[in-house]
Amino acid sequence: MTHLHITSWVLALILLGVAVWLYRFGKAKPGKIVHMILRLDFLLILYSGGSLIGNYFEGISGFTGELIIKVIAGIWTIAAIEMIANKAKKRQPARTWWIQFFIAFIIAVVLGFGRLPLGIM
Ligand code: HEM
Repeated sequence: MTHLHITSWVLALILLGVAVWLYRFGKAKPGKIVHMILRLDFLLILYSGGSLIGNYFEGISGFTGELIIKVIAGIWTIAAIEMIANKAKKRQPARTWWIQFFIAFIIAVVLGFGRLPLGIM
């Protein structure tokens, strides 16, 4: 499940880049298609993340605080990605969302790789 989780958020980063690039260069229709695929990928991130949470109900203890922050940071990252894509679609600046994206993403990755115990199985 960690592999699916990592694959799905790496895919989200790629799709975000492609969607923003397409919108920026006026290619609204292909941009919209990539944006829709990006939204489907959000479901994959949530599903794989949710399944990983399941492991914590089966005996892992002592990480509740960090797990809660990790999940909030993950959801916050997804929200920021969606907002960046929307701003690109409307051709509006997304600076504040980019900042939030980087902060939330770094928190999610540091806690996921650095602190939480599951690791790549
Ligand atoms: C784009 C957003 C996200 C990023 C960048 C991200 C990043 C990561 C990373 C780097 C790991 C460590 C993988 C490993 O253990 O080898 C991880 C694990 C995990 N993620 Fe996410 N994640 C995101 C979204 C979410 C969401 C939305 C949830 C909850 C619904 C979630 C729940 C978890 C859980 C429970 C783990 C296992 C922690 C552990 O290693 O013990 N993540 N995530």
